[in-house]
Amino acid sequence: MHRPLRKNDLPAGILNQYKHRLPGPRGMKENAVAPAAWQSPAARRIFGRPCGNGEQMTAFPYDFSSDTQTRPSPAMRQAMALAEVGDEQKREDPTVNRLQEMVAHLTGKEAALFLPTGTMCNLIAHAVHCRPGDEIILEAGTHPVHFEGGGPAVHSRAAMRLIETESGIFTAEQLEAAIRPDDPHFPHTRLVCVENTHNLKGGRVWALAAIQSVAAMARKHRLLLHLDGARLFNAVVASGVSAKEFCEPFDSCWIDLSKGLGCPVGAVLAGSREFIAQAWRYKHTFGGAMRQAGIIAAAGVYALEHNINRLADDHVRARKLAEGLAVIKGVSVDVKAVETNIVVFDIAGTGVSRAEFLRRLASHGVRFSGLMKPTQLRGVTHLDIPPDGVDKALAAVRSALT
Ligand SMILES: Cc1ncc(COP(=O)(O)O)c(C=O)c1O
Repeated sequence: MHRPLRKNDLPAGILNQYKHRLPGPRGMKENAVAPAAWQSPAARRIFGRPCGNGEQMTAFPYDFSSDTQTRPSPAMRQAMALAEVGDEQKREDPTVNRLQEMVAHLTGKEAALFLPTGTMCNLIAHAVHCRPGDEIILEAGTHPVHFEGGGPAVHSRAAMRLIETESGIFTAEQLEAAIRPDDPHFPHTRLVCVENTHNLKGGRVWALAAIQSVAAMARKHRLLLHLDGARLFNAVVASGVSAKEFCEPFDSCWIDLSKGLGCPVGAVLAGSREFIAQAWRYKHTFGGAMRQAGIIAAAGVYALEHNINRLADDHVRARKLAEGLAVIKGVSVDVKAVETNIVVFDIAGTGVSRAEFLRRLASHGVRFSGLMKPTQLRGVTHLDIPPDGVDKALAAVRSALT
């Protein structure tokens, strides 16, 4: 049984940070081995077991199921603990304001809005852009189609028209074919959405030229454009194209803080001043307007300052995972398709069911996630995969299949 925490349970290091309000949150190096205070029994009860890189372990020490499985690092927690806060709803939280300014600057948009989730960014963008009876064009495997509880239908009363692709990336010609004629029988095509990188298709990057060509077609038909940038910085790091260049053709765009950037919560939507003014209304309507949200926004500020460039390591490790999986009998994976931090693979050739495969891996502390096809899985690299994680995962897969 857990007894309630007492003041003296807190590691001395943490107490000192609160007492003296250190001047800046950058005292601790990201991924540095956690100081002893963070590894004390009391700290473990509060923060979980630390693993090799100073982060905290999940139940699966090698958790490749998603890049949402990161825990805030000691340095990020320090930034959160020391954050200046105010009432976000009154625009008085300086840390939220700073985060919004940073994202507006990075995406080249006039304004930005901090929201609890990426899903809410998508839903609010749909709501601002669409009227009931409008239609949104999306690639068939994108997040709003499968994982937002039918959000566009529920909140915007908009229909979705899907473009099927192999890679998650559609062409201007495919877009044009999906646009409805101007006829009252049809829904009114209003919005085109792009997901960069594309999650279910294995973290594929939309090349800037592909975006520009689709955007030109959308403009020709007077359509609006929205970018789901849950993993935009993976695309940035993989391609060398800046976030600003990627976002330029879009009326609205957003980035997620709680994926590869390693924050516990949060996403930031960006667009014109007028778009964000309307988005604020929906933020209240959807119940997403917060109070002293600087506590969580501080993690976002920290992540934008420290965790973007390191995404390149995740990409190298994903490629290594894919190459290792490719030589295991019965496992099929398209190594060339691994451009960022996501590896999609198939175990149909092994004769082992996915449930059994996952059960066997669990006994090695390794976890992947299942995809739509019953024999397909996804491995995602992120900053909480320990340095030996890919080797451990590959050894576990070999052992599970022999
Ligand atoms: C491409 C994409 N869009 C949107 C989301 C939703 O983000 P959130 O989990 O922050 O609501 C996700 C989450 O996995 C995603 O992968």
